[in-house]
Amino acid sequence: MTLSKIEIRNIRNLRSVSLKLTSNINLFYGNNGSGKTSLLEAVHLLGLGRSFRGPRLGPVINHASDDCTVFGQVDHASGSSRPLGIVRNRNGSREVHIGGEPVRQLSELAKVLPLQLINTDSIQLLTGPPENRRRFLNWGVFHVEPGFHEAWKMSQHCLKQRNVLLRDAKIDTTQLDLWSRELVKVGEAIDRYRDGYIASLNPLFQQQLSNLIEAEGFSLTYYRGWDGSSGLADVLATDVEMDAKRGYTLHGPQRAELRVLVDERDTVDVLSRGELKMVACAMMLAQAHLYEQLGSRDCLFLIDDLSSELDVEHRKDMCRLLEENHHQILVTNVERADVADYWDSTELAMFHVEHGEISPQEMR
Ligand SMILES: Nc1ncnc2c1ncn2[C@@H]1O[C@H](COP(=O)(O)OP(=O)(O)O)[C@@H](O)[C@H]1O
Ligand SMILES: [Mg+2]
Repeated sequence: MTLSKIEIRNIRNLRSVSLKLTSNINLFYGNNGSGKTSLLEAVHLLGLGRSFRGPRLGPVINHASDDCTVFGQVDHASGSSRPLGIVRNRNGSREVHIGGEPVRQLSELAKVLPLQLINTDSIQLLTGPPENRRRFLNWGVFHVEPGFHEAWKMSQHCLKQRNVLLRDAKIDTTQLDLWSRELVKVGEAIDRYRDGYIASLNPLFQQQLSNLIEAEGFSLTYYRGWDGSSGLADVLATDVEMDAKRGYTLHGPQRAELRVLVDERDTVDVLSRGELKMVACAMMLAQAHLYEQLGSRDCLFLIDDLSSELDVEHRKDMCRLLEENHHQILVTNVERADVADYWDSTELAMFHVEHGEISPQEMR
């Protein structure tokens, strides 16, 4: 899978940008404020329907416009290609098209353009709240287990219904049992998907990490969201009084956690910031690798500010790994020289970003 074309209107300072991406490795350099992060933001919007800065889309739309648009074309190894596009308005409305057809669910975009983002915030995969690791876990399972998305949506629905009932002064136990049973069914399915996924991811994670830092004893440990020795049905039954007091369901797939351990200790308590960054990168590389193996598809990597993210040695290691895995990459950097030197491939494309314009450059 290759993102071969991209057209951007009104994403931050990018008023109108049209790019052809003919190489796997695409390097973008330019001064601070030129529009490099905005370019990656546009591609992220196309792949996920949302900004990587948070839930608000307003700041992403150019100040002088009411809406922003991103179009792309994704080419497949088979020779077929698919156009996709998204328009988002300040008033919250949106239009998404894939292959010329309107699409309602944003998750459809992720199936066509799966991507991984490495930027200053990547470290929050480890240092941030459990939701960050759950999102990582769900991304992986979503892309390789066709049944996961429906089960996940159903679990959200069951939880919503169950929590409303729990907050009633007089609980309707028949209804509560019904939603609890449904939650057990989908919750246990989600657990099986996630458990299997982490079992496959773990060796790949260790392998990728061994290329980035000299340390052993790392593992990803999955916690399902309720006590491992009990079934979810028993846990919900035991919790019911406390859940009613709290007004929500404490245990279940919504509370799953992914712990990243080194010699049984939490990496966050042991490693330096730089090492944590490598661990987060190894998790993403492993995930992309597994996706390629199980989903037979490739992932696009977006890397913002390569030099500020990684020191020289790690830059080299990281670029080599990305290259060896044949991922398509869009990488930004302030200095041209600092981004061009780390690749063996001769098939590099270089672009200069300046005042919201992006122009292809000759490789010297
Ligand atoms: N909504 C917006 N409308 C217009 N310009 C914006 C908007 N948001 C940010 N900018 C401007 O876009 C420019 C490019 O930002 P950015 O892409 O982050 O630059 P960099 O090349 O340093 O990554 C900045 O100068 C910023 O002030
Ligand atoms: Mg930037």
